[in-house]
Amino acid sequence: MTARHLSVLLALALISPVPAQELRGHGGPVRAVAVSADGRFAMTGSFDQSAMLWNLADGTADAVLRFHQGAVNAVVVIPGLGFATGAEDGRIALWRGNAAEPVRVLQGHKGPVAALAVSADGGMLASASWDETVRVTTLGDGTARVLEGHRGPVNGVAFLPGGGIVSAGYDATLRIWPADAGAERIVTLPAPLNGVVVAPDGEIAVAAADGRLRLFGPDGESRAEIEIGQTPLIALALSADGATIAAGGLRGQVALVDRKARSIRATLVGPGLPVWSLAFLPDGRQLLSGGTDRLVRRWNALTGEHVGTVVPRAGPDVLAAFQGERGAQVFRACAACHTLTPSDGNRAGPTLHGLFGRKIASAPGYAYSDAFKAMDIVWTKETVAKLFEIGPSAYTPGTKMPEQTIGSAEDRQALVDWLEKVTH
Ligand code: HEC
Repeated sequence: MTARHLSVLLALALISPVPAQELRGHGGPVRAVAVSADGRFAMTGSFDQSAMLWNLADGTADAVLRFHQGAVNAVVVIPGLGFATGAEDGRIALWRGNAAEPVRVLQGHKGPVAALAVSADGGMLASASWDETVRVTTLGDGTARVLEGHRGPVNGVAFLPGGGIVSAGYDATLRIWPADAGAERIVTLPAPLNGVVVAPDGEIAVAAADGRLRLFGPDGESRAEIEIGQTPLIALALSADGATIAAGGLRGQVALVDRKARSIRATLVGPGLPVWSLAFLPDGRQLLSGGTDRLVRRWNALTGEHVGTVVPRAGPDVLAAFQGERGAQVFRACAACHTLTPSDGNRAGPTLHGLFGRKIASAPGYAYSDAFKAMDIVWTKETVAKLFEIGPSAYTPGTKMPEQTIGSAEDRQALVDWLEKVTH
């Protein structure tokens, strides 16, 4: 990925305002997504500098994690722990459950972290960076081996079955690093490389800026080339069984590739394209995408059909009971993160039960941001309406609530009237 491409897409995302009913999570394009091995949780990273933890079974957002100072470019599952995020700020954060702070932070990169990978036993974390290096960190003792050789940003990294590492760079090279300290094997390709994955049998798949997916043997011998589209491939994922590769391009083409047959089985058809990130659910039958439209979507990984957004149910029937009410409809944009009753508890955001008349940052048991705790606001219909008229980042600077506004004064009024009714 070039800085230019990033900024072009980022600019596109910023100038196209998203209607309120679609703001169900991140405040910016979803740059990275990973799914836990049991399929119950997903973590996403965004250009809005936050990571979010989603409960896929319940369709709720469990946490908004604000730690990084820059886009969260990469997310990976750490077996036995949780997830790791890698960001533009050069840092890698390790997260356990929905704790508000990382359990550990790995520093060392001098440029943005673009990709992360974990060894099969979960003991080692590899990170690819725009500082032109790959770091392979032994999580047990924190020591890192630094792989130097790329002449440009490194955009992808993966482990090979024997413990070796493969990295893909903007310098159009694929580099295969032996598990011990030996020199790397270099494979030079016709275009810059944006991502790499490795199948359980050791086959390497590389996403390139010429829109082609290329397959190599574990030693770097070329095996196949599949044209996905004309524009750079920016998202790449592999199903757990290694059978299917998903590759997405800058113009919105996303192909599901049958790896053994070397052919495109289906292309995604539906809303929310182009995507920045892709991840299969463990059974390989569904795929998640993170989009420029800020949403996380589910797809049928066999047919390419859109299944729906990973959203937000407000808890059983809370919204169903208010069918047809505008305020309840507007609240759909909030339901992933907020409940309305004390018994449903806090999610990514605090419960809104008892909101009106309550001082900011006073819901019991919720870990508010420091910015929120330092403010002196009492929530009334007027202040809540104002919050979404000018947006959280203007009204409550430093908040971890993703940026969103509700453009229509009638919708804001409907929302606060309805909230008053249902939060006490
Ligand atoms: C992606 C998750 C998310 C979404 C969507 C979201 N919020 Fe929030 N909200 C938060 C978080 C996180 C906080 C706490 C902010 C902090 O600590 O900085 C918060 C705080 C608030 C607060 C202040 C509560 C308090 O106790 O001080 C209000 C009011 C609120 N949100 C209303 C809404 C409404 C209304 C919507 C929909 C229009 C919405 N939020 C959408 C995550 C979200």
